[in-house]
This record gives sequence, C-alpha cells and structure tokens, in this order.
Amino acid sequence: MSMPPSALHRLEVELGPRRYPIHIGPGLLGDQALLAAQAPGRHVLIVSDANVAPHYLARVEAAFAGAGKQVASVVLPPGEQEKTLARFGELLSALARLGASRDACLVALGGGVVGDLAGFAAACWMRGVRFVQLPTTLLAMVDSSVGGKTAVDLPEGKNLVGAFHQPSAVIADTDTLATLPERELCAGLAEVLKYGALGDAAFFAWVEAKAAALRAREPTALAEAIARSCAHKAAIVARDETETGERMLLNLGHTFGHAIEAEQGFGGLVHGEAVAVGMVLAARLSARRGHAPDADAERLAAALQALGLPTALPPGLAPEALLARMRLDKKNLSGRLRLILWRGIGQAFVAEDVEEAAVLRVLSGQGPLAGA
Ligand code: NAD
Ligand code: GLY
Repeated sequence: MSMPPSALHRLEVELGPRRYPIHIGPGLLGDQALLAAQAPGRHVLIVSDANVAPHYLARVEAAFAGAGKQVASVVLPPGEQEKTLARFGELLSALARLGASRDACLVALGGGVVGDLAGFAAACWMRGVRFVQLPTTLLAMVDSSVGGKTAVDLPEGKNLVGAFHQPSAVIADTDTLATLPERELCAGLAEVLKYGALGDAAFFAWVEAKAAALRAREPTALAEAIARSCAHKAAIVARDETETGERMLLNLGHTFGHAIEAEQGFGGLVHGEAVAVGMVLAARLSARRGHAPDADAERLAAALQALGLPTALPPGLAPEALLARMRLDKKNLSGRLRLILWRGIGQAFVAEDVEEAAVLRVLSGQGPLAGA
C-alpha cells in the first residue's frame, strides 16, 4: 500500500514551550535522515515485538547504524500479557548493557504495547531520556504514540504503573498498516471513532460514512482518519497534558474496557475491542441515567459493528468482578467512581460519584432505557 506524497501530514503537539512533531505518511521508515536525526547522542535502543521486527526492524536499525550510532535491539514476544514490570526491567537491563548515557534514545517500533513499555523505560532510565515513537498499528498511530502516557500493567489492573513522558517525535509510516492483521485494524478504528463519539459529531458521521473504505484500508481515508484523530489528541493533550480535566474524556469506554481486559487476564479482547464494548456500556449507562437518548447508544453500537468490532460483553465475566476492577481505575478519587459518560454523540463529560448499582445493572445487561 502506498500513498501519493500529497497524503503526507505533519502536525505538532504543543505543550507550552515544548513541542514535538507527528509525521504521518507512506514510506517514512525508509527516510534514514529523518530517523537518524531523532538520536543526537551515541546510544540507541530499539524496542519491537516478534510480529513487527521481521518486517521493519532491519531498516530502522540500518538508519541509526548508518549514522554512526551504537544500536541495540530488544524484540519482545507480542501481546498485552508482555506489558509487565518484568519486561520493563529487561529494557532497563538492555540499556545498561548498551552503556546508555543520558543522551541515549529509545525507539519504540510497534504497537501500543511496545510504545508504552519503551516509553516507560525512557521515563525511568537515568530519570528520563529521549524516546521516539514509530507506531505500526492503527491504534498506536491514532492514540497511544501521541501524548506521553507510558505504563505497564499489573495482574490487578491495567496501566497501574507508569509515567507521563512525552516522545520527542512520532513517525507513523502508514505503509506498515499493510501487514497489520484485520482484527488489529478494527481495534484501531474503535479509537478513531472514539474521537467523534467524545467531541466531534461531524467526525463521527464521517467515520460512519467511510467505514467500508477504512476497513478496506483505502489509503486516503486511512491517512485522513489518522491525521484527524491525531489533531484531536494533540489539541486535548496540549490543554491538559497530565489529565487533570479534559484529557479524561479520552477515556470514554476505557474504565469498562480496562476492567474487561484485566478480568480476562489480558488475553481476551484486545484493547481496542474492549474499548468498543466499553463505549457502548458507557452510552447505555448514560441513557439509563437520563443524560442521553437511547438512539445514540444504538447508533454507536451500529457504527462499531460496521467497523468490525464487538459491542457486547464477552460471556463468562461476572458483573461484580468487573465492578471491583473499575474501583481501581486511575480516574477515581477517594474511592468514588468517576466515569466518562455522554449527552449524546460528540458530547462526552466527566461523571462524578457514579452510583455502583446503576453500573452493575448495565454490566448485567439490563435494558438501556433511561429510568428503566
Ligand atoms: P499491540 O501493541 O499489542 O499490537 C497489536 C498486535 O499487532 C500485536 O500482536 C503486534 O505484534 C501486531 N502488530 C503491530 N504492528 C504490526 C504490523 N504493522 N504488522 C503486523 N503486525 C503488527 O496493541 P495496540 O492495539 O497497538 O496497542 C494497545 C496498547 O496500547 C494497550 O496496552 C493500551 O493500553 C495501550 N494504549 C496506550 C495509550 C497511551 O496513551 N499511552 C493509548 C491507547 C492505548
Ligand atoms: N488514551 C488516553 C490518553 O492518552 O489520555
């Protein structure tokens, strides 16, 4: 898959006096000068996974080695189960073996799992070194590579240990999406639709209209979806880098979704799928509490289905167990449940002190009708 040069997009994430670029377009991993320029120091540690590395690692290594850098690579087994403190420790050990100094650069070549792990290692090595995101999943291109959230999971819950640490650049080579499995493409589309659902009804309608083109990986549609998603994310992160307010809206569906992932031992639904189910549950809860029309929840579910995503809880998950996971969500304060709900498509808000009984009813599959 390749796109004409006109499909190249360049955005900026502006954080007061700090800023970094997001490059989006075909063939960017072949731009040796662009890659090499990201590492001003001598040491480069590339982190990838076993699905991504066979396709793309050699050319990324060559770009840095060709510029005289001392390069080491760590190729992890793929999957959410690997986003652990143990793997984080392995990355720190690899940095030590490399002799990485404070001007070292970590390079995350892969999806959100690799990006979150490498970013967290970069946040902690010598109290913080540079890192670059080379996202290769749609989900990482539209969400996880931008904004500086880094983390690992604990068996008790998702992303419970981490740091805010911004990358110095995001370079999204859209050609890499050609090898992405269908299921992972759809998972990324959940996060694309999320931007419309939480704050941009016109973008929601655009994604609905382009569902078939996006699933068919039509290059212009995909590039536009990535650029518009990144623009949304960059704007929100610029206003609220450390999630004290507006950035929480990016978590639409995530409190439910993270609970599902953790309850399934991080080996069931993939993240984007869990978010899809979570967004529908949040919309149903919104309807039940009288914030939003039922019809919007059903329109959301239909849009997600058209994008190839699940919209119902997987069988075998106990509502009480999911609720217990939700109590450990990072947005909660003083033990009170804080959720992202909506007033309809494009109108998410932070709901404080949500009553657990209503959450349990939605998790039990009881009807979405407001006041039912
Ligand atoms: P992932 O990293 O597990 O990648 C999905 C799968 O696709 C993996 O099997 C991977 O090996 C494979 N893959 C990746 N790129 C490929 C390619 N081009 N060709 C073939 N196979 C490829 O999952 P993800 O969906 O990218 O990311 C999910 C993770 O991101 C979760 O851990 C989630 O918590 C995190 N996340 C973080 C943020 C943030 O702001 N930091 C935001 C959203 C999600
Ligand atoms: N993915 C949510 C955030 O970055 O804030």
